[in-house]
Amino acid sequence: MRIVVGVGGGIAAYKACALVRRFTETGHQVRVIPTESALQFVGKATFEALSGQPVNTGVFADVPEVPHVRIGQEADLVVIAPATADLMARAAQGRADDLLTATLLTARCPVLFAPAMHTEMWEHPATVANVATLRAHGANVMEPASGRLTGTDTGPGRLPEPEEIFGLASLLLERADALPRDLTGRRLVITAGGTREPLDPVRFLGNRSSGKQGYALARVAAQRGAQVTLIAGNTIELAPPAAVELVHITTADQLKTAVDKHALGADAVIMAAAVADFRPTHVAAAKIKKGVDEPDVIPLTKNEDILAGLVDARTEGRLAGTAIVGFAAETGDDNGDVLTHARAKLARKGCDLLVVNAVGEGKAFEVDTNDGWLLGADGTEQALDHGSKALLASRVLDALVPLLR
Ligand code: CTP
Repeated sequence: MRIVVGVGGGIAAYKACALVRRFTETGHQVRVIPTESALQFVGKATFEALSGQPVNTGVFADVPEVPHVRIGQEADLVVIAPATADLMARAAQGRADDLLTATLLTARCPVLFAPAMHTEMWEHPATVANVATLRAHGANVMEPASGRLTGTDTGPGRLPEPEEIFGLASLLLERADALPRDLTGRRLVITAGGTREPLDPVRFLGNRSSGKQGYALARVAAQRGAQVTLIAGNTIELAPPAAVELVHITTADQLKTAVDKHALGADAVIMAAAVADFRPTHVAAAKIKKGVDEPDVIPLTKNEDILAGLVDARTEGRLAGTAIVGFAAETGDDNGDVLTHARAKLARKGCDLLVVNAVGEGKAFEVDTNDGWLLGADGTEQALDHGSKALLASRVLDALVPLLR
């Protein structure tokens, strides 16, 4: 695909290099268009070497090629990273005073802005209005990350990590309409990853969940405007999604405490985490050693079913109006195929939607792609085509939106 990476003049311009690299590594043809001030931060030669394409900022280079019209017309996706306050102001007004803004006017493909600026600039009414205008014109403007900015100040305005921008850009290539702002004003609680139940100070019972599907849900929901609390088990290696409140837990018991706390008043809870059904009844205070008190069996105690607890709480009126989504990782067996088991699970759990994945070698766990089915309590069944976990997340959120109170 032909990707245009526009680079605004902010200190985060250096992160655009990693983004360009990610696109070229995955086989895309990249054209970098910096603004004149972006070149104060990163040299033209760097972008030319990384993209293998010429780099210009103005409209008067290669005039016979008419680049100010052609590059935008031919693009499959335009990503602006970092999008500074000034660049977004110019784009919102429809200015065409350099090659990048001219390209934005001629592009008819999805456009993704990844803002980066100081918190005061991001929150200024002028920027807020410009972001609203860009969105009204059909562009996708990401929520920035919070955290350390240039200098010692912190707050919203940090450029989302290149990997996150790449993930959302890839999602827009899969599905141009994947990021509507239809979750604005909604509060979602999403669980991700797997729980670990300790046996002794060094060993645990765990599972193969990587957390990637739950993170993709949190990321896409936040970029669709939701206020998201992501409760995650054992996902230390995953980059925290931008504009998401992240709570780390280890055991099923901790997960339950966190879910019960955050679910109150939420519009929806999505239980993507793989929760251990059992925990060792006794946790040894010291490491279990060979030859000393060797256990023949490990007695297990059943953990509470968090999803079932949410459904009960709703029935009793404590979670009135909260939509509840469950996940099921299933394998077929002598008693039925994946869908038969999944239909029974939906009925048993009493949630509104059940996302079903068939699991097995190279499927669902740890990998970056997913597929499956989406079963609704109203009897609807939809196949989820194979694609990125972000694509599956966007389909699940599409089905969730009409169920919100
Ligand atoms: N789940 C939960 N609490 C548990 C176990 C599971 O909330 N103690 C949730 C998971 O987050 C998931 C759904 O229930 O959304 C289904 O998980 P799964 O492990 O497939 O369900 P089980 O009830 O364990 O079903 P079974 O063991 O019968 O397959």
